[in-house]
Amino acid sequence: MSQLTDEIQRRRTFAIISHPDAGKTTLTEKLLLYGGAIHIAGAVKSNKIKKTATSDWMEIEKQRGISVATSVMGFNYGDYKINILDTPGHQDFAEDTYRTLTAVDSVIIVVDVAKGVEQQTRKLMEVCRMRNTPVIIFVNKLDREGRDPFEILDELESELKINVRPLSWPINIGAKFKGVYNIYENTLDLFTPNKQKVTERVEITDIDDPRIDEAVGEADATKLREDIELIEGVYPAFDEKKYLEGKLAPVFFGSALNTFGVKELLDCFVKIAPSPRPTATDEREVRPEEEAFSGFVFKIHANMDPNHRSCIAFVKICSGQFLRNAPYKHIRSGKVMKFAAPTAFMAQKKNIVDEAFPGDIVGIPDTGNFKIGDTITSGEELHFKGLPSFSPEMFKYIENTDPMKAKQLDKGIQQLMDEGVAQLFVNQFNGRKIIGTVGQLQFEVIQYRLLHEYGAQCRWEPISLYKACWIESDDAEALEAFKKRKHQFMATDREGRDVFLADSGYVLQMAQNDFPKIKFHFTSEF
Ligand code: G4P
Repeated sequence: MSQLTDEIQRRRTFAIISHPDAGKTTLTEKLLLYGGAIHIAGAVKSNKIKKTATSDWMEIEKQRGISVATSVMGFNYGDYKINILDTPGHQDFAEDTYRTLTAVDSVIIVVDVAKGVEQQTRKLMEVCRMRNTPVIIFVNKLDREGRDPFEILDELESELKINVRPLSWPINIGAKFKGVYNIYENTLDLFTPNKQKVTERVEITDIDDPRIDEAVGEADATKLREDIELIEGVYPAFDEKKYLEGKLAPVFFGSALNTFGVKELLDCFVKIAPSPRPTATDEREVRPEEEAFSGFVFKIHANMDPNHRSCIAFVKICSGQFLRNAPYKHIRSGKVMKFAAPTAFMAQKKNIVDEAFPGDIVGIPDTGNFKIGDTITSGEELHFKGLPSFSPEMFKYIENTDPMKAKQLDKGIQQLMDEGVAQLFVNQFNGRKIIGTVGQLQFEVIQYRLLHEYGAQCRWEPISLYKACWIESDDAEALEAFKKRKHQFMATDREGRDVFLADSGYVLQMAQNDFPKIKFHFTSEF
């Protein structure tokens, strides 16, 4: 096997996603502990944007610097090289989260056993489903009182719209929680509520082994056997192919805080999770094993220092070996560039690297050359797909409040949009600029950054909109007729595409009924 193939096959690039508070940070930290990337619990936690600060954007600004370090966490585990891509953890989640999901090969979803499937998990799952991303589910906090595991499985299936298959099973929960039976490996792990201690494992041969009765008592052992029998009867055997196709999610139970069930999750994860997969471009499919390098920018992290408008562009490597100082083509501008100081993220540290492989993320210091979605290659004209903009959920008119600074404001808006902070639409009727976001917080961040980084002042004005959707039609006449009828509600996005601004769900539905020849899209890529 060539070195390149070898490097590709040992890589696992994924994201942990959850509704805030389900335990994402805790689980991430425990995985890093297993990988030896950190040595004490609490190291990641202290970097986390404090939950109390959900509307405290100043705090978030301060922490933006820190979160570069936790954006990507790479570590070795056995023969595997693992890259965890962090997604912003605060309540108001940003487009950034969606985009990070375009750069991973699989995800682990954390669900709180008491709360079940929550709103953000549902939304994130939609993005995974669009891309057929393989999903493993970790049901967390089994040491707390929670819901019946069978009920949780049903909820996962109906709410996340994916088939599930338990690969481990809890013995009681809450105060009576005794451990989990690992269906995948046929092992029994007993629960010791201790945050640092490693799990105690009882050697067993199978589910009928009397050592289970000795370990957990006859009553619980009988209940476990009944549960497992039911599971085997109801759920088909675990099908790895279906998992890889994103159609079936294996489910594990545990307690991240107590480091319980985490190693089992990790061991199964490295075995079944995919190594870097082929990536679609407008031109063709790019396979990771191809010798020529290619990659795309999925995230741009602006620097804290307002005097130097420098940032870091995060590039996901899709094929070939990336080399420091090699000439690469920036496709959008046609320029050939050399990167003297690319950084990789290992064990929470940023280091300059000489090489990187598919599945890896490199950070490239930049002074404004890169935009989200940009492709870099050894020379071939490629354009990676799969970085759609999603229809925002909140909209406001942005108005200039300092006529002397109109230019600065325009430039600031332009660059913040390049960075992917929010989306800009221009109403074709009145020429006003509308900013669309997926969370309230982003309006505050934009206003703050425009002032501090560009010296521009703005104010927000309310606009009552339900959704912005991209429209198209094979019938040019029908499209013109629609645009004419709805002229007050037509806008263009930054690429000049037609966008219909629906002010209510009802209006949107009526428009869909009245104009059957018009296609309405809720992401910018169709
Ligand atoms: P998040 O990143 O998904 O937002 O969740 P995070 O890991 O911060 O966990 C949220 C809270 O849940 C934390 O408590 C954490 O300690 C707790 N937690 C995580 N896993 C478990 C578990 O397995 N069992 C129990 N009982 N609790 C768990 P906190 O009080 O908000 O934070 P802290 O003060 O403990 O740091």
